[in-house]
Amino acid sequence: MRLSFLLLATLLLLTFSLQSESENTNEIKQLHDQQCSGCHINITDGDGAVIYTRSTRMANSIEQLESLVKHFADGSDAQWNQAQIKQVTNYLNQTYYGFIEKK
Ligand code: HEC
Repeated sequence: MRLSFLLLATLLLLTFSLQSESENTNEIKQLHDQQCSGCHINITDGDGAVIYTRSTRMANSIEQLESLVKHFADGSDAQWNQAQIKQVTNYLNQTYYGFIEKK
């Protein structure tokens, strides 16, 4: 009885933490898509994401990627804070670039 309760509680906790993690990723993706994708879609004439997968990329390390994110966030009046810049950098890195993340 006690064991099954513990099991259930653990399962519930796990489900909730997984859920909030994916919600968080969605939020970051939304933030990026709202502020950044429009212009990228315009200049690439369709799939804006190809800006991140060109054979000659501007970002060749996680540091360069982060400073590009900061540059565009500043330039587009997005007014992102440091945490948002980091989150979008990590999101782009995990989705497109695959650099080793610094701690
Ligand atoms: C007004 C248009 C515009 C907006 C808004 C914009 N970008 Fe860009 N972005 C560009 C252009 C143009 C390039 C390609 C520059 C080049 O190749 O010389 C680019 C390239 C990039 C790159 C480099 C890709 C590579 O080659 O590795 C990153 C990273 C990037 N943008 C991030 C962002 C982020 C994050 C935002 C939102 C905060 C954003 N951009 C908003 C126009 C824009």
